[in-house]
Amino acid sequence: MRRKFMAGNWKMHKTIAEATAYARELVDRLGGESARIMIAPPFTALAAVGATVKGSNIQLGAQNCAPELSGAHTGEVSLSMLKECGVNVVILGHSERRHVYLETDELVNRKVKLALSEGCDVILCVGETESERDKGVTEKVVKQQVKEGLQGVSAEELKRVVIAYEPVWAIGTGKNATPQDANAVHVFIRRLIAEIYDPGVAERLVIQYGGSVKPGNVKELMAEENIDGALVGGASLSAEQFVPIVQAGRS
Ligand code: 13P
Repeated sequence: MRRKFMAGNWKMHKTIAEATAYARELVDRLGGESARIMIAPPFTALAAVGATVKGSNIQLGAQNCAPELSGAHTGEVSLSMLKECGVNVVILGHSERRHVYLETDELVNRKVKLALSEGCDVILCVGETESERDKGVTEKVVKQQVKEGLQGVSAEELKRVVIAYEPVWAIGTGKNATPQDANAVHVFIRRLIAEIYDPGVAERLVIQYGGSVKPGNVKELMAEENIDGALVGGASLSAEQFVPIVQAGRS
């Protein structure tokens, strides 16, 4: 059985003061949970939240990283800067990065390899848009994002990679994939990993679902055999919603 991984992507929400108070509440309320837990605040709050969750069972994630280690890269944040704040997981290839900031698979792959070589775990996000889904090319799109995102990543390194399947049409929209539809894509991803690597590696791979996960739908999503956790946006912003979501990952 794969341990569930329940993660919150706060996106561009919360000031340092708000983030710190909220992280403290989560540390207090999620102490005894069996699931792996991560929160990814905005960059400006990472240092303060990192100090708050230090020594707890909550890991600190970053929402992105630079594809370079240092240098003249205005506006970018490097992995060593993130690690200094306590970050040990980086979310890469989020659909908002791909579609709004035009990140290519090639750029995502460079970041994935750099994050792994710098000792961070990676959550690699993949998922089709609504029009791609309507055209029936979900598997083709997901296959390309997985294959190109993981180009050059060894089986050993893959142990520190989580894939998040986030259908773009389900993000922030209140529409979510049915648990069965999501599970079918997760099965597809696991088969693909078995083909690229081997069945043992594929079996161990944690595949999260993301896209309008809420307290009301999380249990049925987590009940699917191939859904190993959730990457949560909007509902990760309040303890009222995020605590029951994390609890749905109990083993
Ligand atoms: P929502 O949960 O707000 O749909 O966002 C999902 C997401 O993008 C997590 O990375």
